[in-house]
Amino acid sequence: MTRRRLVAANWKMNGTRAANAAWLAEFAGARPSCETVVCAPFVYLPQLIDRLASSGLAGSATAVGAQNLSERSPGAFTGEVAGEMLVDLGCRWVIVGHSERRALYGETNEIVAAKAARALALGLRPIVCIGETLAERDGKRTMAVVSAQLAAVLKTCRAADLARGAVAYEPVWAIGTGRTATPEQAQEVHATIRAQLVAADSEAATATRIVYGGSVKPANAAELFAQPDIDGGLIGGASLIARDFVAICAAAT
Ligand code: PGA
Repeated sequence: MTRRRLVAANWKMNGTRAANAAWLAEFAGARPSCETVVCAPFVYLPQLIDRLASSGLAGSATAVGAQNLSERSPGAFTGEVAGEMLVDLGCRWVIVGHSERRALYGETNEIVAAKAARALALGLRPIVCIGETLAERDGKRTMAVVSAQLAAVLKTCRAADLARGAVAYEPVWAIGTGRTATPEQAQEVHATIRAQLVAADSEAATATRIVYGGSVKPANAAELFAQPDIDGGLIGGASLIARDFVAICAAAT
């Protein structure tokens, strides 16, 4: 089975209404042919959803994603955003467990697993991020760390449900550092992730997109995407420049 490549933009805490409009105009003009998701700060999701719909790009090829959601249902949780609200807006995807949330906002494997389960229960497609730090890689603990992060998610979510979303392998040492994992380093971890999914549900494992993130650029995207278990990318810095993001999408097709 051939998995359709998925390329997701993670804008992180960046954007203005004017900059987003310019980005969307350039992106819509290029009409990328792979499946794309644009993950923006909560406040800009309505702008993205409206603009993509009016440019005729919304639909199965391009969707909008959030970068986080609460693991709880709506209620007295000041400052939180419920998955129900994302669904209400027309948002279809959500990033879960990004390493910045794990490192800076205390998200544990259990919280990440609860968020992934919450997203799936609401019909949102989670992009579940896993990845090791530099100290963990140097200590030869990469596979153990990544497997434990995925195992926590597979405890709360069926692999068959997770296949609606994606798993993103993002080595922390490669995020925003300009230091990309080599295609071989990334493939080695992706294959291990695939094997862990196979052990849970082989059919679901074959269908699940495992995307790579960490300093993906137009110059290195094609060689990463050529690996057998790399099914696309989660793009941070380079996704802020529409031309670069479009070039990365082109490398995926
Ligand atoms: P980067 O970020 O492409 O800037 O390294 C990737 C990510 O954090 O998702």
